[in-house]
Amino acid sequence: MPQIDTLISAEQLAERIAELGKQIVEDYAHLEEELVIVPVLKGSFLFAADLVRQMDRDVSVDFLGLRSYEGTSSTGVVQITSDLSKSIAGKHVLVVEDIVDTGLTMQYLLENLETRQPASVKVASLLHKPARTKVEVPIDYLGFTIEDVFVIGYGLDYDQLYRNLPYIGVVRQED
Ligand code: IMP
Repeated sequence: MPQIDTLISAEQLAERIAELGKQIVEDYAHLEEELVIVPVLKGSFLFAADLVRQMDRDVSVDFLGLRSYEGTSSTGVVQITSDLSKSIAGKHVLVVEDIVDTGLTMQYLLENLETRQPASVKVASLLHKPARTKVEVPIDYLGFTIEDVFVIGYGLDYDQLYRNLPYIGVVRQED
């Protein structure tokens, strides 16, 4: 296991996610039907699990699997590896992402979801790396803005490892 420096601690994550959950519940207070939470797998599984537990309202959860990354560099090619199990036509949808980096994945996903005619689509992303933006995408609920560093943990991986760390970390570079 490499040396990993903590960028965002488990306590900071919990505190911010509680705020986001509260904000989302307030914003959708007028909506009587359930809000459809769409966690984007795999990276958002922990964020989504913690976020929905901070939401005191009716939600349903339907997962969408995307692959957009090989190693640490964006290919810009996005593939749906596992699709939603139910139609979202006429539904209010909240996409839950781990990180918006170049924005290419989210742009693809939002375009794809729009073709399914939902009543509305909003985005919650735990992290945003504005330095790497290639396309601007709306982020309605943002956890943290971070520098241009490759992060791991709390769902985010490097070659499929480290998703289980309870905090967001950065691999220390060996000199
Ligand atoms: P984008 O298409 O460049 O915005 O990339 C989005 C996806 O790339 C995210 O959902 C992550 O899976 C992955 N990604 C981007 N930056 C990082 C990082 O720093 N650590 C781990 N995964 C990342």
